[in-house]
Order: sequence, then C-alpha cells, then structure tokens
Amino acid sequence: MRTIIGNQMEHLSRTDSTNNYASRQLMTKRLPEGIVYSTSVQEKGRGQVNQHWESEPGKNITMSVVLYPDFVPILSQFLISKAVALAVSDFVSAYVSDVHIKWPNDIYVGKKKIAGILIENSLREGTIASSIVGIGLNINQREFLSDAPNPVSLSLLTDKEFLLDECLEELCDRLDDWYMQLKIGEVQKINRAYEERLFRMNEWAPYHAGDEEFEGRITGVDEIGRLVVERRDGTKQQFHLKEVEFII
Ligand code: BTN
Repeated sequence: MRTIIGNQMEHLSRTDSTNNYASRQLMTKRLPEGIVYSTSVQEKGRGQVNQHWESEPGKNITMSVVLYPDFVPILSQFLISKAVALAVSDFVSAYVSDVHIKWPNDIYVGKKKIAGILIENSLREGTIASSIVGIGLNINQREFLSDAPNPVSLSLLTDKEFLLDECLEELCDRLDDWYMQLKIGEVQKINRAYEERLFRMNEWAPYHAGDEEFEGRITGVDEIGRLVVERRDGTKQQFHLKEVEFII
C-alpha cells in the first residue's frame, strides 16, 4: 500500500518540463507531499548539468514528484538520490537483468542508459524545505537522436510495448517503498543496496579526469555523494559530478 508518493497524480498533455511545472506549482501553494506530475509531451526536458533530456512524445515516463524531506540533513541530501535511484532500478529490474546505477543516479542496463534523474532541492533555514524529483524513464521509444549518450528503452530490450499508465503506477509503488525506508531511517540499508547496484563497483576500468586518463576502481560514494576512486598506486580520490568521466 502506498503511503506518500503517487496518492495524487496529475497528467499534463504537454509542458516545458515537469520539474519546472512542479516548481511553478510550489510557488503558488503548499502541495501535498508525494504529488506526481507527468506529461506526454515535454518540450524542454532538462537533464543534469544543464543538459537536454530527449523523450519522444507519448512514448516514455517523464515525471516529477514533490517531496518535503526536511528530516534529511543537508549534508546527507545525496541519500534522496540514492533512494530514488534504487526505486527506478527496482522498476527496471522487474523486466530485464544487468541493471545498475551509474553514479550519481543514472540507471543503466548493461552499458546503456535507460533512465535519468534530476533532483532539485530548495534549502531553507538549514533544512531541505522541498525536493522536486524528476525522472525520465525510456519505455516505448525505439529511436533516439544520435547525440543521446548510449540510450536504450524497455521496448528495445524486450521487443514489447508497455502501457505507460501501468508503468507509472508501478514506479510510484517502488518510489514510495524506498522513500519510506529513508523516512524511517534505514540509511545503512539504502547505502548497502546502492553500493551493491553501483555500476563498476570494485572493478578496474578507465576514467577521465582533467587532462588525464587513468585506470581506477570505484570503492564507494562518500556521505556528500562524491565518487571515491582508487588508483593502481593505492591512492584514493573523491570526485564531484563532472570532475570525472567514465570511459565506457
Ligand atoms: C539526466 O540524466 O541528465 C537527468 C534527466 C532527467 C529527466 C527528467 S524527465 C522529467 C523531469 N523533467 C525534466 O525537465 N527533467 C526530468
């Protein structure tokens, strides 16, 4: 049974970005926690670090959920990312295998990206006053623009068509499960599950940072969400988003 996420849902025939829409709604009134905005046509979908999120009209899940995770310390806000990534990876794992979370919160099947997450937190008086959790999940799209990074969809992976409404309901169930784990303080469980599913965890692989290409091994993610990578000489380095690139 769902407790918070998806008890109220609003489907928009089109919008610029569901994250933008949720943010505008939040400015006008106090929204119920867990309200989900989804759309068939997202005209200006946004990805991380100002990138564009491409989604063919009517084919995929593009949604945002509004949360009030004021119980999460600001320094631990990456826990929200972890919980959401776990929920999306649970959803995908129900249909296909070899599902991983590529740090910080991309969902990969094999070496291809099936979903992206964009979380926008508003901080007030030392707490997280609100969090808009945007999820783009490729379901029925079968062709992608050439500049999209290794995209894949459930339909391409299974050769089936999916009902978007049912997928959205299932995804809300998974989000609700993991958000409850966060709410009841199951931090260790979240950290353990996230590291177990982390793409290339403990595997030697090539990375790119600054001008350098090097071989490293992910040993975890620190409390503030930086990726921890060990080098062949035994030294460990922490990276923020965009400071390190996976060579895939
Ligand atoms: C990424 O991988 O870069 C994050 C992509 C997030 C895309 C989703 S789609 C719904 C929500 N609205 C947006 O504008 N972006 C997020």
